[in-house]
Amino acid sequence: MKNTATRRPVDRLIFALDAPDYAQALAWIETLSGHVGLFKVGKELFTACGPKIVEEIKRRDQKAFLDLKFHDIPNTVARAAEAAVRLGADMFNVHASGGAAMIRQTADAAAAEAARIGVRPPLMLAVTVLTSLNDADLLRIGFQKNATEMVIHLAALARESGAQGVVASPREIALLKKMLGDDFVVVTPGIRMSDAPADDQKRTLTPYEAVQAGADYIVVGRPIRSVKDPERACREIVQNIADALAASDRS
Ligand code: C5P
Repeated sequence: MKNTATRRPVDRLIFALDAPDYAQALAWIETLSGHVGLFKVGKELFTACGPKIVEEIKRRDQKAFLDLKFHDIPNTVARAAEAAVRLGADMFNVHASGGAAMIRQTADAAAAEAARIGVRPPLMLAVTVLTSLNDADLLRIGFQKNATEMVIHLAALARESGAQGVVASPREIALLKKMLGDDFVVVTPGIRMSDAPADDQKRTLTPYEAVQAGADYIVVGRPIRSVKDPERACREIVQNIADALAASDRS
């Protein structure tokens, strides 16, 4: 699937549904349906309450990003991707370091399963290097490249193997777009409004800066969850995205 440049600004806002249980997640889905483009379900929530949270998102005609970062032998990840397609995931991800065969088989399996049941294939993203790892950590694992080199190397491998994009930190957006082309989707967390606390994010960009740097989607959690008026926060972020798109002529 090509990177559709004609998405509405709101479609580019991914809300990190980082809730500990079903009830709290459901309350957020009720509050933010229509105000965000996708709900990102990660390992904590999925492990706590399973597929029913994704079914609930889909029941409300909202989009779901299944952020489970699959990494296993190719057959296992391909079957997991088929299950994600049946569940209705609009976006899911795999670790690029799972290798070319894993990524390729998974991309093919997801596309075939989507065709079989007559749905649009989900966007498959690759995770390159976790932002919690620095150059010294990579060396210790046994990788000889530094983090930036690894990100580019793994993103290129992912693209060649059928992934449609990557999850990348703000500092990598521009480089990835330059090296891998505009059609390769970049999804970026680490987003903060200019006056907000960074929390545990080490380097942040505003929605405007991230989109201007080339991000196709931004992932936002606490700046929406921990303010008094989350719907208003979403509107501000979407306006920020719209302004950046207009300024860079990508709308
Ligand atoms: O609350 P906050 O906006 O920092 O949430 C960001 C979301 O993006 C969280 O779900 C976090 O796990 C995720 N994420 C991240 N950094 C990465 C990859 C994912 O913050 N490199």
